[in-house]
Amino acid sequence: MKFHAMLISSALVMWSCSPTIENSQSFRDTPKSVEQIQANLVSESSPAPLQCDLGIKAFETSVYKMVRSQCIACHETGPGPTFAVADINASYARLINYVRFQNIPQSYLVKKGGNQHCKSYGVDCGVDFNRVTAEIQNWWSGGESQCPSTAKNRTEELEMPKNLAKGQHQTMKWDLGTVNPSLANNFLEVEVERFTEPANGQEGSFRFGRPRLMAGGSNLYFRALRFVQNGNLVAKADSYSWIERTIGRNESPVISGAHQILIEEKSNADRVALAFDELSLVGPKKCLHQDVFEKNVYSAMVDRNCFACHAGGPDKEKGIPLAVKNFDMSGTLDRLCGSSLARADSLFPTLSPLISYPLRRANGHPGIFASPGEVTPTWTDWIGSEKD
Ligand code: HEC
Ligand code: HEC
Repeated sequence: MKFHAMLISSALVMWSCSPTIENSQSFRDTPKSVEQIQANLVSESSPAPLQCDLGIKAFETSVYKMVRSQCIACHETGPGPTFAVADINASYARLINYVRFQNIPQSYLVKKGGNQHCKSYGVDCGVDFNRVTAEIQNWWSGGESQCPSTAKNRTEELEMPKNLAKGQHQTMKWDLGTVNPSLANNFLEVEVERFTEPANGQEGSFRFGRPRLMAGGSNLYFRALRFVQNGNLVAKADSYSWIERTIGRNESPVISGAHQILIEEKSNADRVALAFDELSLVGPKKCLHQDVFEKNVYSAMVDRNCFACHAGGPDKEKGIPLAVKNFDMSGTLDRLCGSSLARADSLFPTLSPLISYPLRRANGHPGIFASPGEVTPTWTDWIGSEKD
């Protein structure tokens, strides 16, 4: 409970800070390098990165100490992007996006932070490539390497499918048994397509969507799905990093309606793994408030006749094949409550696929609700009430 409350409040703080980062972009007039695009990639719906105390502690005595003493002339209130701020959590959340712990010398923070650009703005900040590299190394070995988000729960690497084309999805499927043999028979499937082709010396990019967790014979709990590209955790690829969910056995819900873009690093040779902050088999999970579900959610499903496509409901509809395959709403109320919960986010209820599909037409879903007021607070109250 306390944990959830903390996450939400830090998310709000970071959301309210992000316009500062946005504004500072206009300061630049040079064309953006790929690293800059990567460092600045903003995903469609990413409330906040999850942080780890050990990582923050190590950050405090290494990179944070350096930027607070050598870089504040321009990076506390500008004109450069404001990452050397007094709020250590805000500073951490920004700087971690400039770092590749698995290949520190290639980090944007090294290349840009050690290149003495301060001199071209009239200040000698006295920091070179070696110094930045050493401070990031201290951050990593002093604690960040023990954070679950950067080190644990990684799947096997898969090669990106060759010949990806725009608008033509291919499916990638990771066996979660490669994270840990006890997780055999659970899979994460995601669709991927080409987003941009490489052109004029700029790398291309991929777009992922419809991530689907396929639980085997046990219930599966996960928190924070992240991407690892060629061995490096891509901190900016955070579209799914705030999701926390328990998936009932034999369920395979889409876990988000949002997309994630990755910049291609090696032409037709990128390898991608997934990482979870937490991933484990758990005991049975049932709806705690089926009465609230019936009153607040089921009634609207009947009103809007979701069942015409998804099957079930009072008239025992047959539905249409694709909708039934992806989300079969037939059967008992208990079952529907559980499979709806598997498509709901307790931390950020309005971002739930259960809501984003029919309200915001995620992935081209028919628009069933015309305004957010039709699902808030009724649906979001139910989702909130299910948080244990
Ligand atoms: C005298 C001013 C000044 C000082 C001192 C300075 N910088 Fe900068 N820095 C800038 C400006 C202005 C920009 C934005 C324009 C650009 O990219 O050159 C920038 C950009 C950056 C960026 C790119 C951020 C982004 O979002 O693309 C990084 C990283 C960076 N600085 C690191 C550092 C580090 C590390 C230090 C301290 C060791 C430092 N800078 C000291 C002026 C400064
Ligand atoms: C006119 C037909 C139709 C109606 C009515 C409809 N849906 Fe759907 N729905 C679909 C189709 C088709 C899919 C599969 C599309 C896809 O995965 O891209 C789908 C997929 C979904 C998904 C994603 C499931 C998953 O795990 O992949 C959710 C959530 C969803 N619908 C919720 C609803 C809700 C809630 C309602 C009623 C308020 C509703 N739908 C009404 C056709 C419909």
